[in-house]
Amino acid sequence: LPEAALSNSFSEFPQMATQSFTAIVLAAGKGTRMRSPAPKVLQPLAGRSMLFHVLKALKGAGASKVVAVVGYGRELVDSELTTIGEELYLPVESVFQAQQMGTGDAVKVAIASMTAHASEESVVIVNGDCLLLQSQTLEQFFADHTTLKSALCIGALELSDPTGYGRVVTKGKVAQRIVEEREATAREQKIQLVNGGAYITRVGVLRKLLPKIKASKRSGEFYLTDLVALANAAKLKVGVSTLPSEDLLGANDPFELATAENIWRERKLLELMQNGVRFVDPLRVTLDEGIAIGAGSVIEPDVMLLGATKVGQNVTIQMGSRIESSLIEDGALIKAHCYFLNASVGQGAHVGPFANLRPGTKLGANTKVGNFVEFKQAVLGDNSKVSHLSYVGDATIGKDVNIGCGFITCNYDGFQKHQTKIEDGAFIGSDVQVVAPLTVGRDSYIASGTTLTLNVPEGSLAVARVKQENKIGYSKRIKDRMRRAGK
Ligand code: UD1
Ligand code: CA
Repeated sequence: LPEAALSNSFSEFPQMATQSFTAIVLAAGKGTRMRSPAPKVLQPLAGRSMLFHVLKALKGAGASKVVAVVGYGRELVDSELTTIGEELYLPVESVFQAQQMGTGDAVKVAIASMTAHASEESVVIVNGDCLLLQSQTLEQFFADHTTLKSALCIGALELSDPTGYGRVVTKGKVAQRIVEEREATAREQKIQLVNGGAYITRVGVLRKLLPKIKASKRSGEFYLTDLVALANAAKLKVGVSTLPSEDLLGANDPFELATAENIWRERKLLELMQNGVRFVDPLRVTLDEGIAIGAGSVIEPDVMLLGATKVGQNVTIQMGSRIESSLIEDGALIKAHCYFLNASVGQGAHVGPFANLRPGTKLGANTKVGNFVEFKQAVLGDNSKVSHLSYVGDATIGKDVNIGCGFITCNYDGFQKHQTKIEDGAFIGSDVQVVAPLTVGRDSYIASGTTLTLNVPEGSLAVARVKQENKIGYSKRIKDRMRRAGK
């Protein structure tokens, strides 16, 4: 099994981004509106945290480093940041905002840690809940910032219902200030150009303007959005880049998170369909962030592809299968209602219906695993078959092996797990139990109904069952005796 295939591949970033920058990610808030004990930035979308999605977009757009401002749930957020940083090959530094005194204060904390950074260096600031942001959108944002020659550029969006967002107050084409919803006048509340919570500027601009932010009289918070008015007052050019609104939707509560997940799913489905994947009913599949599916594959309804599952080309996955962190190679057929976790299925294999492939299962090419078969920490060699009602645990089965119905590896003695080895070409009859540890040699035959307790040498026939005896006419004798006793 190519193990690398199971981890996320970053061939998604083949070309060097056009710019390089440090990103400041604001992730210290609790996310009260989520009404969840977990920090908001750890809420999942498509199986990964909000933070993962944000950092992946930043990495793709050229971030050379991320400074994440953490606060609520610091340990949990830090550990997720470490995981993401390693996975994306992105240096991540976390800085601690002891009290959540607003987005302006959060950026102050970040800048205070960036003493070694040159004033001229570009900085992208994003809210940690900006989870639909895409690399190409950030590229467009940067292009606008460059064209506009702005000192501070705001990522804005137009919304028919701007509720909840800071409104961008403009005069002519110039953004004058951003007013937060709770502080906006009735007239300002009607403004549909809103702040998306993403900004591009330079380290020096932040060093100069951040100390000037005053706490809001209404809420006592320091608003990062005050930078717009402050930049204008300092005669620094403020640019507005209007970006696709879907990219900047913030997810503040469970409903907005579900809405974001639907948008993410639509994007993923579209991308997969453009690559030649067919979904019998696209609304009835669950897809995680890390999955990949090859051209010509068909996915039936109610299939869940989770974790870093990779599906090859021309694979069919029938309805109701749940497949997590697994590899399915080209041409395989997964029949209805299978359950796989950390398993791999070779080219052209047929599995299911109702197969349970537990961690460490490796099925070779053109294998067949039929209904109600369970595998765990077990390898099945090419062209081998386990077609019905079996348990195969802690076993290595060679090539061209045929295993009949009702085969069981007795692998556990209550203390330890024991290995079963079945060599190439063996033929195992139905209803055979192997009391492991034990080896069945090449090309051996095991008679049906055998309980194996000894190794079987190559090329042998093993039989371990009581010899059958037929007592002719005995049935009538039994029945006569019963009848007499009953009367
Ligand atoms: C913010 C913007 C608003 C914009 C919206 C876009 C401000 C004042 N308002 O509002 O103009 O329309 O985003 O989604 O910036 N955070 C910290 N430390 C703090 C406070 C917040 O790290 O002290 C983090 C939060 O964890 C969050 C991000 O900053 O990830 C934004 O905070 P949030 O409360 O979601 O701001 P909004 O009210 O959405
Ligand atoms: Ca928000």
